Amino acid sequence: MWINRRFGQDSVEKMVDWALENVPASSDPRILEIGSGNGTLLFALREAGYAPPCLSGLDYSPDAVNLARMVARTRNSEGIAFHVCDFLSELPPPAPGHVDALGGWDLLLDKGTYDAIALGEKDESGRSPVAAYPVRASRLLRENGYFLITCKLQHDLAPILLLIIAPSMQFYGRGVEDELH
Ligand SMILES: C[S@@+](CC[C@H](N)C(=O)[O-])C[C@H]1O[C@@H](n2cnc3c(N)ncnc32)[C@H](O)[C@@H]1O
Repeated sequence: MWINRRFGQDSVEKMVDWALENVPASSDPRILEIGSGNGTLLFALREAGYAPPCLSGLDYSPDAVNLARMVARTRNSEGIAFHVCDFLSELPPPAPGHVDALGGWDLLLDKGTYDAIALGEKDESGRSPVAAYPVRASRLLRENGYFLITCKLQHDLAPILLLIIAPSMQFYGRGVEDELH
């Protein structure tokens, strides 16, 4: 798990570099971005050498998915799959070639989506919508898969995320220690 509080192009480059080093394109990995928006990160991975069928994105906004699909057509990347899917209540299709209905992803990516979900309204019992995030993410990952996130790490929620998704995770990047203490 790699955490960085900086957003934008800098994050895209760092996430792509990290993926190239740890989940190389030559290993034909299955990569899913949670909240892929207009697809910027997935297109950057495509340009870095990942084949389109390795790459998928999900977003609950049909407009974002339509835009990403449109951009894909202009970049010869129609093989990247973009799904309309609410990560908190629906399951995306399984990773290509994976037999189970669930999971099978080698790498889950999140650039800003955890934070966006954390900003949502709490329910009557005061539970944040992001409380459902860890278990849903862990279901999608294959055993020993990677979860790479760029987020601002809200103080009360970060420990839940960190503990549930991958108890044996390794940290990359800076900033997390400040946030957790
Ligand atoms: C801050 S944007 C980041 C978009 C993209 N990752 C990027 O860096 O350009 C957060 C994205 O998450 C999506 N999103 C928020 N909540 C979601 C949910 N429950 N399920 C799926 N997508 C969600 C939003 O529609 C939006 O596209």
